[in-house]
Amino acid sequence: MECIETDFLVIGSGVAGLRAAIELSDAGNVLVVTKDVMKESSTEYAQGGVAAALSDEDEVGIHYSDTIKAGDGLCREEAVRVLVEEGPDRIMELIQWGAEFDKKGTKLDFTLEAAHSRRRVLHAHGDSTGREIERVLINKITNMGNISRFPFAMGVDLIVDDRGCVGAVVIRDNQPVMILSRATLLATGGAGQIFQRTTNPAVTTGDGMAMAFRVGAFLENMEFVQFHPTALFYPGAPQFLLSEAMRGEGGILKNIKGESFMKNYHPDGELAPRDVVSRAIISEMVKTKASHVYLDLTHLDSDFIKQRFPRIYSTCLSFGIDITSEMIPVSPAAHYFMGGVKTDIQGRTNIPGLYAAGEVASTGVHGANRLASNSLLEGLVYGKRAGEAARERASTPLSRPSHNLEIKFSVLDKAERYRERIRRIMWERAGIIRCNESLETARRTLAEIKGLLKGNYQDRSALEVKNMLHCSLVIVESALQRRCSIGAHYRSDYPGKDGCFYNSVAKAEKEVEIVIERKEVKR
Ligand code: FAD
Ligand code: SIN
Repeated sequence: MECIETDFLVIGSGVAGLRAAIELSDAGNVLVVTKDVMKESSTEYAQGGVAAALSDEDEVGIHYSDTIKAGDGLCREEAVRVLVEEGPDRIMELIQWGAEFDKKGTKLDFTLEAAHSRRRVLHAHGDSTGREIERVLINKITNMGNISRFPFAMGVDLIVDDRGCVGAVVIRDNQPVMILSRATLLATGGAGQIFQRTTNPAVTTGDGMAMAFRVGAFLENMEFVQFHPTALFYPGAPQFLLSEAMRGEGGILKNIKGESFMKNYHPDGELAPRDVVSRAIISEMVKTKASHVYLDLTHLDSDFIKQRFPRIYSTCLSFGIDITSEMIPVSPAAHYFMGGVKTDIQGRTNIPGLYAAGEVASTGVHGANRLASNSLLEGLVYGKRAGEAARERASTPLSRPSHNLEIKFSVLDKAERYRERIRRIMWERAGIIRCNESLETARRTLAEIKGLLKGNYQDRSALEVKNMLHCSLVIVESALQRRCSIGAHYRSDYPGKDGCFYNSVAKAEKEVEIVIERKEVKR
C-alpha cells in the first residue's frame, strides 16, 4: 500500500478543517485530505450568517445566555463561554484576511435569526456567508507553504494502536493509501445525508463520526439532530435551504389554505426555536393533508428581496418560482448535528493523537439545540483551538502502526439501494417526531441492513453507506434510551423533560455493538 508521511493530518476542508490547518502550519507539515474538491462542504452552502457579539447593541454575555437557552439545559457552560468570548476575535481576524461581510454604510450589518435576542448575525453577499468564509480560508492556506492538499481522497479508517491514533487510511481512485501522522484532526462535518430530506450536501455522510466510533472514540448526544423548518419542497428541485434570515426579515409561514399559523404555536411566531417551528409545520401539514406549507415574502419590497437574498432568489427562479411574487413551498429537512465525537474544549478526544473540530465534534457548545449561526463560529473558534492542541504532538515520533494493517476490499452490490433504505427509515421513524414504536422499527431495519453489510468496501458509495449505517445505529439507540423530550429530540410518547438532564455517551463494543452511558448534568 502506498504510504505518505506528514506531521499533521487534517481530514475535511470546511471552516473547521481549514482554520485548524492554518493554526498548525508553522508547527510542521500539514496535509488536508478531502473527499471532493476543496470547497465542497456544508460551509460552502451556509446562508444566513455567522453570529458574534460585535454590534453596539450586543454583549458577549447576552450571546452566552441566548446560546445556553437554546441548548435547553444541556450546554457545557465552559464551552459556550469560550465560543462567545473568542468569537469576535476570530471574525475580526477573518476580516483582516479579506472576508467581506455586508455593511450598512460604513458599519457591519447584523441580521436577526430565531432565538437571538439581538441582531448579531453577520452575512456576506446577502445569503452566501459560508461561501465567503470558505473563499477566504482557501485563499489563506494557498499562501502558506506548509499546507498540502489531497482532494478526492476519502478517509476510510483511522489507524489506532497502543500509542493512540497514528494516522488514517484513505482511498483515492479506489486505491488505499496509508497516511502516517503525529496528530490527526477530524473535521468531516455532519451526517445530514442519513435522512431522506436534508439541506446538507452529498459529502455529509457522518464519515468522521463513524470512523472515530469504530476505533473507540466516544460519540456524545447523537440523538440531537436539528431539523431546519424551511427547505424547498418542489418537484424536481433539490432540498435547497430557505434561510431563517428570510423569516428574520419578515417572511411569514402559511399553510396551504393561506392561513398564517406560527402565533398559534409560540409567542415568538416565525422566530420561535427551530424545533418548535418544524413541529408546527408538520402539524399544519397533517391538519391540511398537505406535503408542505408556504414561506411568504410577497409583502416585502421586491428590490430588497433580490438584494438581500440574491442566491436564493436566483436559485428559486431557476426552478420557476419568483419569490418576490409567489409563495415558496417548503417543508422541514435534517440540517445539523448537535452531537458528535466527544471532545474537551481544545478538541481532544479520548484517543491520544486524535482531535476533532466543527460539526463532527461535540464540544458541548450546542447542548440539545443549536442557536442559529453559531456553527460557522464554532468552526472558527474550535478549529483554531483543536489546531493549537494538536501542535502538542509536534515532536511525537512518527512511526508505522504496531500491528499489521491488512486491508482486503470487496465490492458491495446494491450500495445505493441500502443508502436509500437507511435514509427513508431514518426520516420516517427517527426524524422530527419519534416514539418507542417508530424507533424500534428503525432499529430492526438497521439491524437487518447491518447483517447484509459485512466487510470492507472499495468505493466511496459503499464506504459512505457503512458510515451512514453506524451513525444511524447510534442515533436510534440514543433516541430510544432518552425517554423524554428536550431541545431537538422530541418523543411523542414522552413529551416532558423529566429525566432528560444528561448527556448520552455512546461507545462501541465488539463489532460496533452500542453501549450508551449517561452523564448527569449538574443544574
Ligand atoms: P463541513 O463544512 O461540512 O466540511 C466537512 C469537510 O469534510 C468537507 O470538506 C467534506 O468533503 C470533508 N469530508 C467528509 N467526509 C470525509 C472523508 N471521509 N474523507 C475526507 N474528507 C471528508 N451554520 C451557520 O453558522 N450559519 C449558517 O448560515 C448556516 N447555514 C447553513 C446552510 C446550509 C445549507 C447547511 C447545510 C448548513 C448551514 N449551517 C450554517 C451549518 C454550517 O454550515 C456547518 O455546520 C459548518 O459549515 C460545518 O463546518 P465543518 O468544517 O465542521 O464541516
Ligand atoms: C439559515 O440560514 O437558516 C441557516 C442558519 C444556520 O443553520 O445556522
